[in-house]
Amino acid sequence: MLKNYDLTDKLTFRVKAACSYYASVATDNELREALNWARENGQEILFLGGGSNMLFHRDFDGLVIKIAHEGVEVVGDDGRFVEVVAGAGEVWHDFVMKTIDEGWGRIENLSLIPGCVGASPMQNIGAYGVEIVDVLSWVEAICVSSGELRRFSKEECELGYRESIFKGREKGKWAIVRVAFRLERGSELKVSYGAIKDELASVDEWTHREVSNAVIRIRQSKLPNPAEIGNAGSFFKNPILERSEFEKVKAEYDGVPAYEQEDGRVKVAAGWLIDQAGWKGHSRDTHGVHAKQALVIVNYGGASGEEVWALACDIIESVKEKFGITLEPEVNQIGL
Ligand code: FAD
Ligand code: EPU
Repeated sequence: MLKNYDLTDKLTFRVKAACSYYASVATDNELREALNWARENGQEILFLGGGSNMLFHRDFDGLVIKIAHEGVEVVGDDGRFVEVVAGAGEVWHDFVMKTIDEGWGRIENLSLIPGCVGASPMQNIGAYGVEIVDVLSWVEAICVSSGELRRFSKEECELGYRESIFKGREKGKWAIVRVAFRLERGSELKVSYGAIKDELASVDEWTHREVSNAVIRIRQSKLPNPAEIGNAGSFFKNPILERSEFEKVKAEYDGVPAYEQEDGRVKVAAGWLIDQAGWKGHSRDTHGVHAKQALVIVNYGGASGEEVWALACDIIESVKEKFGITLEPEVNQIGL
């Protein structure tokens, strides 16, 4: 257990933040010990993976528990489908690379998403036409109050666009320790998302590896590398509008990128809204809006969580004024 621990280097936003106590746990029993300690000492708990989807508004008064469970294990294989269990602390991108090395398809489109395996079901990570809900088998999590280990089926995880039971109605109640994925040898390639086909135009043989490489190239061309510029990816969710609301926006702004949802609602591109509202490339010295993707707020160095949030609030207000649409943060706000 470490006291007065500086978290800044553990957060891809790189805003200055510390916590009263910090522990890294790699087994279920180590995790239970840390939970017991927090309970006995009246400390709040916050779980940490790769720190790539968090904005700290202030220091955290409590115990931050880094979930560091390792290991990748095959628990089922019928020659075509492979069930693979990964420890929550495994680095997501390294896990994706391993699956491609092994010839297991279905998560190649999720290459280069920062963070750890344990957080992948938290917000049902998604990119380039694939989401965790498409490949998840189950999640094992430890109950914060009882220490009980429970297995959640895919349906019980209540996954939606950037949502899950763990981020929603059971928020803060479970520590995810292992995640099982149903992967497939020779799975069908998913190349319908925009730029992937263009990227593959010069490639003779399309494979899982080539799709992964294409996704990596597209991502590198527009998203800032957190190793170079602080950020947490898309700061806002793409808003999902009722059809009547969408029709009003479209009547005035015909070019709005829109994605039909199964329930009849329409998702619109927040990056486009923010861009149209004039924010792309906006700079406030220490922080600003990424010049290649308006949905990403960046910390050039030295910005505080409060300053970043003040910019986010100005963006929300301006988009609301121009389009009548209220943006919601995608990034987890800590201490707001
Ligand atoms: P953290 O930031 O550490 O935690 C996120 C939340 O989950 C916190 O509330 C934390 O308390 C909780 N948590 C973490 N681990 C556990 C656990 N084991 N048990 C219980 N709770 C836990 N996301 C996408 O969906 N698609 C993208 O394309 C995408 N692109 C990105 C690009 C960049 C450049 C960056 C910086 C981020 C991007 N993200 C994207 C967001 C982010 O990478 C994902 O949300 C990722 O899953 C977060 O993982 P993490 O381990 O860093 O989580
Ligand atoms: N657009 C603009 N200007 C911008 C940014 C985007 O006009 O500054 C337009 C694009 O031209 C495109 C549309 O908006 O027509 C969508 O842009 P893009 O394809 O870049 O995707 P996105 O909707 O902005 C989402 C996810 C990303 C994910 C990509 C790829 C959310 C909140 N974001 O971004 O996830 O990688 O799709 O699937 O759903 C993240 O969650 O951190 C993240 C990066």
